[in-house]
Parts: sequence; structure tokens; C-alpha cells
Amino acid sequence: MTATAVIGLQWGDEAKGKIVDLLTDQHDVVVRYQGGNNAGHTVCFDGEKYKLSLLPAGVLHPGIVSVIASGVVINPEAFLDELSGIENRLGKTSGDELLISDRAHVIMPYHLAEEAILEARSKDNAIGTTMRGIGTCYRDKAGRSHAIRMGDLLHPDLLKTRLEEIVSFKNVVLKALDANAPQLSAAEIFETYQKYAERLAPHITDTTSYLHKAIATDKKLLFEGAQGSLLDIDHGTFPFVTSSSSSGAGIHSGSGVPERAIGRLIGVVKAYTTRVGGGPFPTELHDEIGQHIRDTGNEYGTVTGRPRRCGWFDAVASSYGARISGVDHLTIALLDVLDGLGEVQICAEYEIDGERTTDFPSHVEELAKVKPVYKTLPGWNSDTTAARKLSDLPSAARGYIDTICELLDAPPAFISVGPDREQTITCD
Ligand code: IMP
Repeated sequence: MTATAVIGLQWGDEAKGKIVDLLTDQHDVVVRYQGGNNAGHTVCFDGEKYKLSLLPAGVLHPGIVSVIASGVVINPEAFLDELSGIENRLGKTSGDELLISDRAHVIMPYHLAEEAILEARSKDNAIGTTMRGIGTCYRDKAGRSHAIRMGDLLHPDLLKTRLEEIVSFKNVVLKALDANAPQLSAAEIFETYQKYAERLAPHITDTTSYLHKAIATDKKLLFEGAQGSLLDIDHGTFPFVTSSSSSGAGIHSGSGVPERAIGRLIGVVKAYTTRVGGGPFPTELHDEIGQHIRDTGNEYGTVTGRPRRCGWFDAVASSYGARISGVDHLTIALLDVLDGLGEVQICAEYEIDGERTTDFPSHVEELAKVKPVYKTLPGWNSDTTAARKLSDLPSAARGYIDTICELLDAPPAFISVGPDREQTITCD
């Protein structure tokens, strides 16, 4: 078994990017397999900061192949901008180093236009999306008749005919949703996307076949999850989720690589909980501790800049995330953000209508009723950012880690105590 996967167990933003970056050198191929440019992470590499959204962390490492697999939705403009930014700093990336699946779906201007109208009309019930056309693109993928895949960009005649048909339909829908909606031109979109296609063509290929050959020749694969298990379209806190399979369940559908190829699955959690957008959040803190976590952890979205909602670690939610994804090891990130707090809390059980449970509710209305039952632990009044081994940590911080691992029923692989690569404790 040659593959490792890194998956978020909360509502995204668990600092997966740092762990993927740390593990990249031990692998040959890094694979993104779901989501799109709604994801975002900052990687500190060679003393420089890089913001990645669609590109796998492999692009920062010479000699490593990066794959954007079939389950991803791609906005070509955003992709090319991000690629140019990286190429300006690190040099040209060839088609052999960065592969895009011909089966991946394309985000089109009408996806962005429709999402903007839907979110604005939803008012209090808005999902609070990243407004990147992710959900509207995945909806067309599931609906099939209005979907365009990366492979279609390489067939101009087909693309032209499809766009004429789709854009005339989308214009009717947009007008019906909002009388002031802009009307789109199929000819203009075709021309713009033809230009994108010229630049994208060297990268577009059958990545499923590439990955199967890589496994057959014992290449080491690293799967990089985007978002987190609780945002999974099937298993997350629906409807306040993203539109892809962002738990471990999505690795296979999004890449075409079977489950038996995955040798190790590392689940990543923050030492506390955050979420962006709408939806119930049982351990959310609306007080000065929540603000302290937001400021100390720089909890503002990489993609949208939105302040993240912050709260105590929710072991009921995260262990549900761990069960769906099937984790072997944990990474606990941003432990240092809790430095200096007099005491720390972990939600170990939920109380719903007077009943205690460790089951995670399947309906959002039940989740909204949850009263968290906390375990209160002593805080640590010292700086953990210089710790490089578990024994460097104060005993209260070690007790905190042990409690999380016990509640999630998985041993720790890494503890992260700062953004830099070396601010990482590798656990034996
Ligand atoms: P969408 O993925 O843009 O459709 O947004 C759906 C929900 O997922 C919203 O609550 C977003 O804030 C959330 N979301 C999407 N991507 C991320 C991410 O990378 N981190 C955290 N939340 C995300």
C-alpha cells in the first residue's frame, strides 16, 4: 500500500496544508481530488509564504508530480492566476509535473452569477458559501445536461455547440431569478475559454489512468483533502456543507483510486474548533475567549478574509468526522493558540432534550438544540511554540492532547505549535 491521505475532521481550515507540505517530500505524487478554489491554505516554504487554493502542495517541491483529479471543480481563470503566481516565483511548471483530469468539471461564469443571486435571496438561511460557483458547478455535474468537463475544452466544436445550448437556458434562469441579472453571451464565453484551453491543454490528461500506473509502479501517493469531514455533502451538517465529498469517503470517488490503495489516513484537527458560513456550532464562543482564539490563531479566511467563528474543541463532532473518514493517526494543530488560558474545555458529550449522547445528530435542527457537556482541564501558562518533542510540552498540554486522542480513539502523529515547518512535534 503506497498512499497516505490527509483529511480534515472538523469544518475545514484545520491546517492540513502544513501537514501535506511536511509529508510531500516522502511522496512522489500529490493529489487534490475534490472541491475547488473554495479551499485555501498558506504554506510557509523556504522562508516564504505561499497561498494555495487549487494547486496541490506538490507544486512547491521540484520533482514531485501534482495531480488535480476528476472530483475537483476548476475555475480556469483562478487556476491560471494561481499557477502564474507560483511560476513567477519558482519557474515554469510542465505538463508532466502538473496534471489536470479531463474528467474534472469546469466552473463557468453562469455558475458564479447564479450563486450570487441564490445566496442573496436566501437571506437568513444563506449557506454562507465562498461565492466561487462551487455548488452551482457541482449541481450541473449531477444534473449532467449542462455540465462541461475539462476534456470538453479540447474539443472546440463540441464546446461551442454545448455553450450555445447551455447559455441560452442559463439566461432564462438568471432572468427569472433576478430581473436585473446580466445576460451572458455564449460567443464571448467560448472565446475566453478557448484562450484558457490553449494554456491548459498541456496539463489536461486522464489522471485516473496516470494514478493507476503510478500505483502499479510503486510510486508513493499523497492525497490532500480540502475542507473537512463535517462539510461533506452526504455526511456533514447538511445543508450547511460544501458540495463535494470532503471526508475520507471522497478520496476514491474523486480520484478513481480504490480504498485498498490507502495505507495511512491522517485526520487533522485544530486544538479548538472553527467554522465559516452558516449552520449550528455547539461549542461556539461569543465571548472574549472566542475573540482571543480568533486573534491569536489568525482565524480569518484565506480565500474570503471572513472572520471564522471560534469555539472549544468538540470531541463529539470530531470523532464523528474521524469515524466517517476512518483515521489511523491524528494531527492536532494550533495547540499554541491555547497557550496562556487559565483552563481549557473539551466538549465530550452532547445534551439534546435532556438526554446525553456521544452520537452526532444527522439533522441540523437536532444539532441546533445541542447543549455541550464539557470536560474542564487545566490550562498551561507557558509558550509551547518552541516545543519540538512531546516531553518539551507542559504536562497540562500533554494531558489535553491525551484527552483528545482518547476521545477520538486514535494516536497522535504530529502536534503543530506554530506555522513554520520546524514548529512540529513528530510523535512516535
Ligand atoms: P462552498 O464550498 O463555497 O459552496 O461553501 C459551502 C460552505 O462550506 C460554506 O459554509 C463555506 O464557508 C464552507 N467552506 C467551503 N470551503 C471551505 C474551506 O476551505 N474551509 C472552511 N470552510 C469552507
